[in-house]
Amino acid sequence: MEAPATTIPVLTSKEEMRAWSRAQKKKGKTIGFVPTMGYLHEGHISLVSAARERADVVVASIYVNPTQFSANEDFDVYPRDPEADRRKLLEAGCSVVFEPESLYHIVEGADDGSNVVGRESGHPDAHETFVQVEKLQLPLCGGSRPHFFRGVATIVAKLFHIVEPDVAVFGRKDYQQWRVITRMVRDLDFPIEIVGMPIAREADGLAMSSRNARLSAESRAACLAIPRAVKWAEAEVGRGAGDAGALASEVAARIEAAGGKVDYVELRHAEHLQPVTDLRAQPTLLAVAAHFPARDRGTVRLIDNTVLQPAAA
Ligand code: PAF
Repeated sequence: MEAPATTIPVLTSKEEMRAWSRAQKKKGKTIGFVPTMGYLHEGHISLVSAARERADVVVASIYVNPTQFSANEDFDVYPRDPEADRRKLLEAGCSVVFEPESLYHIVEGADDGSNVVGRESGHPDAHETFVQVEKLQLPLCGGSRPHFFRGVATIVAKLFHIVEPDVAVFGRKDYQQWRVITRMVRDLDFPIEIVGMPIAREADGLAMSSRNARLSAESRAACLAIPRAVKWAEAEVGRGAGDAGALASEVAARIEAAGGKVDYVELRHAEHLQPVTDLRAQPTLLAVAAHFPARDRGTVRLIDNTVLQPAAA
């Protein structure tokens, strides 16, 4: 009997990754894929389990993608722990991890910022091709982070070309991201099934996120106002509440009362994300983003959401 592996294979180049996937396909295996930015928590691990249920072998990628951060965001302090991530992926039954150093074209010898993709760069040979899901990328997180979904769609398209999966699994905590990727795959004919898994939560209700590690102890307690307000909204709509504006104001007030700085609280059609006014007319996405003080510097931006089901008539 073969002894169980004690380390997970780590691939770092696009060429190795693509060759691995093609070799699996030659053996008749289907490939599941979980793209991540690392610092993995149970939420990510549940995505790996979901991929294992749907495919013969599973690839996870760990890559903190520069194009989805603006210059003043947390790219430099985004938490990283590749050793722990590899251990967790091995335990979760992931087959291989793709950990590229850079997935963008490197301009040899350039010292003008061209190799920090997404920031201003004037070099004629720099990366300049981006994928945009034109309308879905605009509201919610796209409002306060206009660069974000362009960066996400571009890197996910690149990863899909490199990994060539049959099925890719995303968490619905990033609900808009899941909708954007689903639309991109449909519109650009990627032969990949996209699966969106429910939000994984801590025992006290906080949505799991790599960013939670940056919360101060006080913020960690205070930010529970977010999942509590989301639960309250579910109950209100279950009791027949229909006024989207009134519900959004009350959710925002509850988060602000706990010391959060609300970025948005919005109610939108659960599929195409257009605004809705009557919560009794269709299942509606309630999406929340708010800042709470970080333990190091600045704030931590937390997101949460739920799909509100109208009360049975
Ligand atoms: O959800 C994430 O962690 C990232 O946005 C993703 C999908 C890995 C793309 O960088």
